[in-house]
Amino acid sequence: MRHQPIWIRHAQQLVTLAGTSDAPVTGERMNQLAIIEDGSVWLEDGKIMRVGTDAQLAAEYGQRSGEALVIDASGKLVTPGLIDPHTHLVHVGSRQNEFNMRLNGATYMEIMNSGGGIHATTRATREASAEQLFTESKKRLDQFLLHGVTTVEAKSGYGMSLDVEIKQLEVAKLLDEKHPADVVSTFMGAHAVPLEYRERPDDFVDLLIREMIPEVARRQLAEFNDVFCERGVFTPEQSRRILEAGRQHGLLPKIHADEIEPYQGAELSAEIGAVSADHLLRASERGIQMMADAGVIAVLLPGTAFFLMAESANGRRMIDAGVAVALSTDCNPGSSPTVSMPLIMNLGCLKMGMTPAEVLTAATINAAHAIRRGDQIGSIEPGKQADITIFDVPDFMTLQYRYGVNHVHTVLKKGRVVVS
Ligand code: NIG
Ligand code: FE
Repeated sequence: MRHQPIWIRHAQQLVTLAGTSDAPVTGERMNQLAIIEDGSVWLEDGKIMRVGTDAQLAAEYGQRSGEALVIDASGKLVTPGLIDPHTHLVHVGSRQNEFNMRLNGATYMEIMNSGGGIHATTRATREASAEQLFTESKKRLDQFLLHGVTTVEAKSGYGMSLDVEIKQLEVAKLLDEKHPADVVSTFMGAHAVPLEYRERPDDFVDLLIREMIPEVARRQLAEFNDVFCERGVFTPEQSRRILEAGRQHGLLPKIHADEIEPYQGAELSAEIGAVSADHLLRASERGIQMMADAGVIAVLLPGTAFFLMAESANGRRMIDAGVAVALSTDCNPGSSPTVSMPLIMNLGCLKMGMTPAEVLTAATINAAHAIRRGDQIGSIEPGKQADITIFDVPDFMTLQYRYGVNHVHTVLKKGRVVVS
């Protein structure tokens, strides 16, 4: 369907990240944003048509200005729509009681091992109707959009039985269809060993491999397959089996690695050629080097470290070692109940030693590559999907400096204004 062209004019800084669509951005290039001052973008039919200085676009499109919706971005920062490549979006309920327990000294794993944590949200999600699940998850997706996020990856994993995992993935699919934001699905049946399998975890691994993964793939409900590889959850060997099985069915591997303890997760991600390894708070130096060599993207989640009161992943070291770094909220009810990618970028600077330019690269084009969408989104270039966020700050440095505030002014998704 055709809709009115949009002309964004006079951006004080237009961050294009041009030339990054082919491969994840590494090293010193993460600092290069390809900025145009007094920048201008013409959007038409949901796509970016032309990007340049305002003088250039005025010469080419000036005669058509009457048919376009003109957005004056004077004094503002224009960036690609932010992308969140790791969330547990689809669930019901919340766990503020556990937050209070942790503030009083209990650990995340203690709570989970005593039947709370992921198990608590699983109980709630198993009981919820698809309508409830849709309504609660949609509210979160609305909030993502208000924070400038135009694409969200969403994992299942609060069912851990075939029918409830499918219920979650179908809700994610419906959200993708009905909501302005795009939702990209990951199957994460291997989120925990469900309580009913506690005494025979390998039977659950077999169930995942023999029944759940093939059925999810057959129904085309997910693109990726993820596993929580952590002591007391899934071992590296079990994780390897689960991820290899997914790959045989066309689901690309992702992994929750080295979140709580060093557990060879980064090494495993490189050995199996995962698209990304996520968390990595306790990744080993060898694992980081192996990820750089294998081209595995590090999806770092500094909000989770902050909320679990743990030391963040060493983002600085990973970039210096040549790993492509992306950032994400990890939005979930236990370890990171936030939707604020801008706050996550602030934490990237303040807790992981990343520069304001690097965190923007990590939250846009590298996040796009982490969900295999680098050719469609994540930079402002002709031919790409017209997903753009306008912030009411003069430059990308100020976006990191004035932390803890939602500076989003306008959000455009597929060439339409969806937040203003
Ligand atoms: O990425 N670590 C495992 N999964 C989530 C937390 C899920 C939850 O606590 O509900 C994470 O931190
Ligand atoms: Fe997670």
